[in-house]
Amino acid sequence: MHNLLRASALLALAAPLLVSAAPSLTDVLANHPNLTQLNQLLTTNMPDFLKNLQNTPEPFTFIAPNDHAFIRVPYTDVLGQAFNNKDYEGDITNILNYHVLPGAHPTSSMNKNGSFQFLSTSLGNQNWSAVTGGQKIGAVLQGNNPPQLVFTSGLSTRSSVVDQDVEFDGGIIQIIDAFAIPPMPFVYTADQYNLAFTAQSILSFLGAVYSQPSNLSLATTLNTTNDLTIFAPANIAMELVSGTLETLSPATLNQILSYHILPNGPVYSADFINNTQLPTLLGGNSSVSLTFTFNSYFVNSARVIASDILIKNGVLHILDNVLAPNSTAVNINPMTYTQQPALPTTFSGSQSFNSSAAPFTTFVPNFYISASPSSDTGAAATGSGGAGGFGGFGTGTGSSSSAVASATKKGKSAAGGSVRHVAGESRWLGIGLGMVAGVALGGCLVL
Ligand SMILES: *[C@@H]1O[C@H](CO)[C@@H](O)[C@H](O)[C@H]1NC(C)=O
Ligand SMILES: *[C@@H]1O[C@H](CO)[C@@H](O)[C@H](O)[C@H]1NC(C)=O
Ligand SMILES: *[C@@H]1O[C@H](CO)[C@@H](O)[C@H](O)[C@H]1NC(C)=O
Ligand SMILES: *[C@@H]1O[C@H](CO)[C@@H](O)[C@H](O)[C@H]1NC(C)=O
Ligand SMILES: *[C@@H]1O[C@H](CO)[C@@H](O)[C@H](O)[C@H]1NC(C)=O
Ligand SMILES: *[C@@H]1O[C@H](CO)[C@@H](O)[C@H](O)[C@H]1NC(C)=O
Ligand SMILES: *[C@@H]1O[C@H](CO)[C@@H](O)[C@H](O)[C@H]1NC(C)=O
Ligand SMILES: *[C@@H]1O[C@H](CO)[C@@H](O)[C@H](O)[C@H]1NC(C)=O
Ligand SMILES: *[C@@H]1O[C@H](CO)[C@@H](O)[C@H](O)[C@H]1NC(C)=O
Repeated sequence: MHNLLRASALLALAAPLLVSAAPSLTDVLANHPNLTQLNQLLTTNMPDFLKNLQNTPEPFTFIAPNDHAFIRVPYTDVLGQAFNNKDYEGDITNILNYHVLPGAHPTSSMNKNGSFQFLSTSLGNQNWSAVTGGQKIGAVLQGNNPPQLVFTSGLSTRSSVVDQDVEFDGGIIQIIDAFAIPPMPFVYTADQYNLAFTAQSILSFLGAVYSQPSNLSLATTLNTTNDLTIFAPANIAMELVSGTLETLSPATLNQILSYHILPNGPVYSADFINNTQLPTLLGGNSSVSLTFTFNSYFVNSARVIASDILIKNGVLHILDNVLAPNSTAVNINPMTYTQQPALPTTFSGSQSFNSSAAPFTTFVPNFYISASPSSDTGAAATGSGGAGGFGGFGTGTGSSSSAVASATKKGKSAAGGSVRHVAGESRWLGIGLGMVAGVALGGCLVL
């Protein structure tokens, strides 16, 4: 008894000693061989940001990009522009805030079963995040031997932790090999996703939203509403029922599209619960049902084929069928991978799918790349040459040849480029998909 008491008294003494024995944040940054760029950025250009981190009273996790991550910056539009502009107090502060997670998140706190957690970050600036409680970042353990911690962020970016659980006196540093990218607006994300994952492109859904008369304000709603969940059917699903969709009145099409959107807080895959009803933007008592069966989640009878693509104001998941509010029966046939469409299909078996023939894609809005998502709403579209490689893309106004040039000139890795004309706009998008890009791992793009 006496010994036990003494032992716990010793432990109580030892605990604070151990904590204070951890080096300070500035010491770790200054001494780690692979954080020289980050250390220089913070000490030279962002001393106030560093001071704020040091003075944070609560424990936090700093996802620290290593020197290799800095090499990739110019190949990523969002980061490249922010660093090019040397916007330390604006965009770069917001980007780094996305790397600061309240609370200590050691590798041991991650789910052991390979499922994702969506952790809050310190990115709360309304120009960058419209997610209550701070924009989220995905965290997952992948592989064995030993399991590796991976963070997933905007544009399905993966950042692997290469040096894990580095302690400092205010929390934990997880050192990553690529910057996390703050989730971008829906339009920009849908367009990027189209380039990276053609088979799951959702441009047809995006085009349908933008085909609406402006008094049906779904496009505006998607830009301006916080905390959304979007279940976007893939092009191929839209194509399957295009004969029906294209003949609907704008009001009915609007009802169908609204039925794919949930207004009450982002529902990440980690929040999916079998056999639940989720209210939709269509209003009334409309809801979709979520069912886990045959190793997949289904929304009504549409399978979720890609999940957790983070956007500025929530999250989007991709479906293999269009949902219909008047046809909500959940009849999931275990015998087929693809379920019967909920809307009448005019598609005949003799046709072959061709997702570039998907409906509404001519309505896809014009957009341009900007580091700060807030300025994306401006009307003037100034083209900029994008990085061809690493899954990036380039846009250019003017003739097709100059667009191709701007998309391909930036790197040897730009191969297989193609040019897409956005109808109704005198604008060409030059697309250079890099050879190294487009590697789909768990729905994520390896940058
Ligand atoms: C620094 O990076 C090199 C090369 O990637 C790696 O071999 C080394 O283990 C890293 N050092 C630390 C302390 O993480
Ligand atoms: C994985 O583990 C977490 C934490 O224990 C749990 O909440 C979650 O439901 C599990 N997911 C699956 C798919 O088993
Ligand atoms: C948001 O962006 C606008 C325009 O760039 C800027 O004036 C404003 O200060 C920004 N707001 C915040 C909270 O950073
Ligand atoms: C939207 O405007 C069109 C004409 O452009 C009109 O026919 C329609 O009734 C309007 N819809 C609503 C919901 O106001
Ligand atoms: C929504 O935002 C995007 C940029 O993210 C912009 O291109 C588009 O025009 C906006 N749409 C509306 C209806 O405001
Ligand atoms: C669903 O049925 C109601 C009542 O028949 C009709 O008013 C509405 O337009 C239908 N909605 C869709 C999306 O078909
Ligand atoms: C999910 O719910 C459905 C419908 O209630 C049920 O048939 C199914 O067995 C449940 N799946 C799991 C994995 O519990
Ligand atoms: C929603 O359901 C409630 C309860 O069943 C009912 O009283 C109400 O009229 C319904 N509202 C609409 C818009 O259908
Ligand atoms: C797919 O559709 C596009 C646009 O309609 C057309 O240009 C292309 O030739 C089609 N591809 C195939 C393989 O049919």
